Amino acid sequence: MNICMVGAGYVGLVTGACLAETGHDVVCVDADEAKVAAANRGVSPIFEPGLEEIVRRNLAAGRLRFVTDLPSAIGDALAVFVAVGTPSRRDGGADLSAVDEVALTVAEHARRECVLVLKSTVPVGTNARVRRLVRDAAVKIHVVSNPEFLKEGAAVSDFMRPDRIVVGIHDGEAFPRRVIERLYHPVTLQQSRIVWMSPESAELTKYVANTMLAMRISFMNEIAALCERVGADIHQVRKGVGSDSRIGSKFLYAGPGYGGSCFPKDVQALVHTGHDYGVELELAAATHRVNERQRGVLTRKLRAKFEDDLRGKRVAIWGTAFKPSTDDVRESPALMLIENLLAEGARVVAHDPQALDRTREVFGDRIEYAQDPYKAAEGADALVLVTEWRPYQNPDFERLASILARPLLIDGRNIWTAYHPSEMGFEYEGIGTHG
Ligand SMILES: NC(=O)c1ccc[n+]([C@@H]2O[C@H](COP(=O)([O-])OP(=O)(O)OC[C@H]3O[C@@H](n4cnc5c(N)ncnc54)[C@H](O)[C@@H]3O)[C@@H](O)[C@H]2O)c1
Repeated sequence: MNICMVGAGYVGLVTGACLAETGHDVVCVDADEAKVAAANRGVSPIFEPGLEEIVRRNLAAGRLRFVTDLPSAIGDALAVFVAVGTPSRRDGGADLSAVDEVALTVAEHARRECVLVLKSTVPVGTNARVRRLVRDAAVKIHVVSNPEFLKEGAAVSDFMRPDRIVVGIHDGEAFPRRVIERLYHPVTLQQSRIVWMSPESAELTKYVANTMLAMRISFMNEIAALCERVGADIHQVRKGVGSDSRIGSKFLYAGPGYGGSCFPKDVQALVHTGHDYGVELELAAATHRVNERQRGVLTRKLRAKFEDDLRGKRVAIWGTAFKPSTDDVRESPALMLIENLLAEGARVVAHDPQALDRTREVFGDRIEYAQDPYKAAEGADALVLVTEWRPYQNPDFERLASILARPLLIDGRNIWTAYHPSEMGFEYEGIGTHG
């Protein structure tokens, strides 16, 4: 099937490349010329495990190509995906200008009956609005909602083995239904994983899923603060609570607050939708407020260790990506920590296995970058673990003790608690745990 994928970022590039891998002919369109040029050379513009090989293989096979010009790429595609960004506006609502622009261009240039697949995360009502935008096109354009649930760092396997594929479509729309079934046939062979629903329900499902996950994190972060006061341990509480099969063990980890390009913006956008329709979503609003407070927790812990005077202190940061296995630093808790430290006169040296280039785009020469985690720790007054990359899980504590100027470990993900760093002579601070 001829597919046009508009937006070749974390979602569009993975989806486009994986659709090509399953035999479709895919042209990916992106406004960013550098991204398109890199992808056409077989260099993935983002770090995502397994992705670059798929891009290379499918470029070579002629099933995948990258262009910047949307009108010519639409051609006679049967499915045009919209995977452009939908960032937060100032008021917390989603900025849909890129989605609208793509829809209008498709309406103007589509040459055959086709399906416009809304993969970007968009507020409820967008499907109906986009239908109106393309209503007067020369050819019939069906609009389907197909929100994306991939996890950065595991996006390729999420595409190939999805938990579910949510599709919002009106009853009786046979043409787009057949196109969607054909699109995803290779990854739904064993078991039909498509969950059909109305467009409004599909749009809402995406926001509800992200907000529910974010809510679990915020709740555990609040409980971690309580643990610190009452002498309980968040690890033990988490295990006790998560072993209840009604609750489950995922997304119960206390930490420096959730980040990334989705949770912060999607929780706020859901709250905003509630306002628009006169329904106050108090739990969602509190989830966001708790997270805003939590994003300062590492700074507060450092301040407390240095009697509120961080001037001239050298702080090593391990992990700047918002989570492991990605180079994405959008809304990463590390960025806020670094900004705070710089504002308070500290010196920062950062290490990350994949995200240093993106971190440099944010901070330039305001901080130092280390290619090796131990180089970052050398002479530092504190080492702060922000992202739980695998190589940080089991560090050489003896070496750390010998190279840190002050043996202070702030463990933002509680990954070192089990080693009892305090017993090894470190000053140790986790989140809701004692170590
Ligand atoms: N990143 C994730 O993990 C994830 C997961 C699920 C859903 N989503 C949603 O998917 C959407 C895309 O997210 P992302 O992380 O891939 O964003 P991204 O910023 O990585 O990619 C968006 C791409 O669209 C391009 N673009 C913007 N406007 C364009 C236009 N008019 N024409 C052509 N290209 C254009 C940009 O250059 C960019 O490369 C968002 O709505 C996001 O909320 C993201």
